[in-house]
Amino acid sequence: MVDTSDEWIRQRTGIETRHIAAENETATDLAINAARAALADSGLVPADIDLIVVATCTAEDRSPNIAGRVSVALGATRPVIMDLNVACSGFAHALAVADQAIRAESATTAIVIGTEKLSAFTDWTDRSTCVLTADAAGAFVITRSEHPGISAVTWGSEPDLASAVRIEAPSSTFVQEGKSVFKWAISQAAGYARQTVQRSGYELADIRALVSHQANLRIIEPLARQLGMENAIVATDVTASGNTSAASIPLAFSKMWHNGELPPDSPVLLFGFGGGFAYAGQVVRTPRRKV
Ligand code: ACO
Repeated sequence: MVDTSDEWIRQRTGIETRHIAAENETATDLAINAARAALADSGLVPADIDLIVVATCTAEDRSPNIAGRVSVALGATRPVIMDLNVACSGFAHALAVADQAIRAESATTAIVIGTEKLSAFTDWTDRSTCVLTADAAGAFVITRSEHPGISAVTWGSEPDLASAVRIEAPSSTFVQEGKSVFKWAISQAAGYARQTVQRSGYELADIRALVSHQANLRIIEPLARQLGMENAIVATDVTASGNTSAASIPLAFSKMWHNGELPPDSPVLLFGFGGGFAYAGQVVRTPRRKV
């Protein structure tokens, strides 16, 4: 379709494979599958869920939101339902909102989902973006605990980069100033990620794994190096899944957990960044038991 090569894509991005949803499959369908899988892993039932938060910037409809459709598909009992659009850092934002709702006793058990069908918003004639984007969903189930496993969030935005990543009407295709985002990521992301760990009460040396937004291997590797985490377990699912925006963190985390790469009851640093321009991160403990 465009003048590119497998070699260019591997060298500049690390991406080797990607997954594209079927034409009639929506971001909602992907979200429902991820929610069902997460719920099955958690051992809980739909009636336990009183909050559903969905992070997405590629919902097929403006209303009802995806969270409402997930609720109906699961047969949940009147949960709070909300979608949140903070593009690639959406999942870390959604997790913070759900965590804070639980701490404030406004909810007990939440499903937090990142879902995207970026392929529906990709300009397949633009080689600078069409080699990056892909589709996916991932989900966490979190519940109230005497020993909360999610740290205070570190989040914010960068007004100077407000137009750097866009899916704007009327074309509604994904455009980005790749270089500006790249520069921000390799010069600023580590500072915010370090702040995230400091606020969590852990030392960087205690953190067992880094699961950052999967935009480009050439961003992930320097980030791990700058944090002194090159010997930790570093998520590099971008190589298998491409850039799946809000889905990339829960997708990478879930694959690593199921492959046995993440030890139980261990701190993992999540850090997302992208469209907005926004970033968010927190330290989460992996589940206590293997599923
Ligand atoms: N195939 C071949 N050549 C290409 C391609 C391609 N697919 N795309 C661009 N090129 C060319 C360019 O035209 C340019 O050619 P020129 O030098 O003759 O002008 C050359 O390759 C270099 O282009 P750059 O844009 O400088 O390439 P760079 O090394 O910066 O890589 C990339 C581009 C991969 C987009 C990188 O900038 C990047 O990853 N940026 C960060 C993106 C990001 O993190 N986004 C996160 C937020 S958005 C989201 O996650 C949904």
